[in-house]
Amino acid sequence: MNDFVFHSPTEFIFGRGVEVQAGERIARCGGRRVLIVCGGGSARRSGLLDRVVKALDDAGLAHALLEGVRPNPTDDKVREGIRLGRAEGTDWLLAVGGGSVIDTAKAVAAGIRYAGDFWDFFDGSATVTEALPIGVVLTIPAAGSEGSGNSVITKTATCQKLSLRTPYVLRPKFALLNPELTLTLPAWQTACGITDMLAHIMERYFTNTPATVVTDHVSEGLMQAIVEEARRVTLNPQDYDARANLMWAGTLAHNGLCGTGCEEDWASHFMEHEVSAFYDVSHGAGLAVIFPAWLQWMAVHHATKVAQWAERVWGVSPAATPQATAEEGVRRFRAFLASIGMPLTLRELGIEHPDINRLADSLHRNKGEFVGNYVRLTRKDTEEIYRLAQ
Ligand code: NZQ
Ligand code: ZN
Repeated sequence: MNDFVFHSPTEFIFGRGVEVQAGERIARCGGRRVLIVCGGGSARRSGLLDRVVKALDDAGLAHALLEGVRPNPTDDKVREGIRLGRAEGTDWLLAVGGGSVIDTAKAVAAGIRYAGDFWDFFDGSATVTEALPIGVVLTIPAAGSEGSGNSVITKTATCQKLSLRTPYVLRPKFALLNPELTLTLPAWQTACGITDMLAHIMERYFTNTPATVVTDHVSEGLMQAIVEEARRVTLNPQDYDARANLMWAGTLAHNGLCGTGCEEDWASHFMEHEVSAFYDVSHGAGLAVIFPAWLQWMAVHHATKVAQWAERVWGVSPAATPQATAEEGVRRFRAFLASIGMPLTLRELGIEHPDINRLADSLHRNKGEFVGNYVRLTRKDTEEIYRLAQ
């Protein structure tokens, strides 16, 4: 087990109706002028935005609104938010939505205080040292951005979807988690979220670090719980308890807990980010295609931990070889993903003729010669994995 620092300072407030606490919490922290960030309309349609605005009014806070953040959020919206926030004298951000909204709020929070272009943080030419504080009202359990220090933004001009990682500066001060808000999620978005949270655990679980017994069992238990609750919510989308368990699982999957003491991998995420940058697919659906292909490749080249995962999470009996055990686990994982309505190939994802060379070239241009840690993948390896995903 490696040495580690586990830093998860976000205050999570969980339960029915908690979104009305947004105003009093920001006021208590000294906020006066809030920029609300939200998506393409779901929060407005459900009445959530009105409730949040009222909560800010009740707390005597001034507010402005940055609306229309789209999935796979783009740099132009961040720039619009920075301009608006500066004009309004914003001192707090409140993200009302999912990963795309929260990530946009984080980029605005960092960019508002920075004299240069915010993209400098994403391409690595500058480091975020300060940012405005952020609160979150979460509407979809998926990206885990409510508890992470990361932000993922696409620069449209160059088709680059890059993640900014700031373990300390950009973690939200609080996240209000009301599972009832997720009852309006379409089955597709629910399934994308389930896939993404499983992927966040797996990116950490597939490690060569020895003796990560506690972290392994925490991760295995969490993956099993997600699979169980996914089955329940698929049968009954109005099941509050299933929604509640999934909401908490999405946060725990990505707040760092599942990576304690491990060298993490992240190759599948970086490979998927290329797919969603070029083809604008939902991140979770992209992962449903890429992660099993990565696992299939690993079953052949480095089966050890994949076989453990197959036995402990998917109940596979040990076969004659670790490869065979691992392959059965991948088969069960794919069957699960199909059962919740996820695509399993790039073609099923709607990409008839994927430009594999372009995906692999861009991946290594953005991430360097090697990608991932469980196996340090070369350009040749990642191309093979993209081809397995076809
Ligand atoms: O825009 P609206 O109208 O709100 O609709 C959204 C959007 O179309 C809809 N939705 C959200 N809550 C809803 C709802 N519809 C009905 N009822 C509700 N309660 O869901 C759609 C997807 O929203 P989005 O925010 O894009 O989803 P998600 O949370 O999956 O975020 C995905 C983004 O996060 C990034 C992904 O790459 C992607 O860009 N990630 C961010 C991470 C981080 N910051 O730590 C880590 C992740 O690995 C991920 O890469
Ligand atoms: Zn993800």
